[in-house]
Amino acid sequence: MTVATTSAAMASEIAQTADAGSLTFAVGGVGAVVGLGALLVATDPQKRRSEQMASFDGDEKEAVKNYFNTAGFERWRKIYGETDEVNKVQLDIRTGHAQTVDKVLRWVDEEGGLQGATVADCGCGTGSLAIPLALRGATVSASDISAAMASEAEQRYQQALAAGQGRAPKVAPKFEALDLESVKGKYDTVTCLDVMIHYPQDKVDAMITHLASLSDRRLIISFAPKTLSYSILKRIGELFPGPSKATRAYLHREEDVEAALKRAGFKVTKREMTATSFYFSRLLEAIRE
Ligand SMILES: C[S@@+](CC[C@H](N)C(=O)[O-])C[C@H]1O[C@@H](n2cnc3c(N)ncnc32)[C@H](O)[C@@H]1O
Repeated sequence: MTVATTSAAMASEIAQTADAGSLTFAVGGVGAVVGLGALLVATDPQKRRSEQMASFDGDEKEAVKNYFNTAGFERWRKIYGETDEVNKVQLDIRTGHAQTVDKVLRWVDEEGGLQGATVADCGCGTGSLAIPLALRGATVSASDISAAMASEAEQRYQQALAAGQGRAPKVAPKFEALDLESVKGKYDTVTCLDVMIHYPQDKVDAMITHLASLSDRRLIISFAPKTLSYSILKRIGELFPGPSKATRAYLHREEDVEAALKRAGFKVTKREMTATSFYFSRLLEAIRE
């Protein structure tokens, strides 16, 4: 696959995506591509982003909420589904995302499950993680800034039960339209998968501090890692805006995320990386010290 093809494809998704084949190609020996990429990384994408935000008076959170209630909802509902109404790139993202979810479920199962434990899944999307956790007996409070997403998650939970995919937990899961800053309470485990991509670095500390304040014991979070190669691919992709591309996407340095967790009193105990052709996500488990 050529870099140009990759770039167009990348830009058509929300950018938690990268073509690993081309990543190898770009980083592995074509100096000119790396040089071009490095230049692109150095240039400021702020102008285009500002234009994207203009209709929301620069309120990025509002723009994200709107996106996931409209075009983004339609796009991600399909990606996080099982139907064949997805293209190759979306199918690859579906596969990568499912691997991230499976890794979390494996961690949970390996330590004996979460029967009866309370879980807050913040930014639950269509319920890819919240639903299997509830069907494993956890008391789940799932929330998302997008009402469309939260409602889709609730419907999928009911469908999963009706299809006999698991037993109803003692306490039925709650699905709410709430931004994660508005989530309250205390939970054994707080999960937040693939949401940090919507947070600029200067907002990540507060985000992690808030998630940590909700957790009595454990935090499980994932993010798109900021490495030179992923930064290059993301930047190239930004040059080829797709039809329903609407939100900014932020990569984060693992050291910064870990430092924020440490300041919030949490120590990283497990790490995983998922990288398919168009999806990359670093997964961390952190335990309260
Ligand atoms: C890429 S999806 C991931 C969904 C889900 N965590 C999963 O892994 O299946 C990102 C989700 O984060 C939600 N989101 C973005 N910003 C948020 C915020 N500030 N508070 C709560 N949810 C947010 C979006 O509405 C969207 O459903």
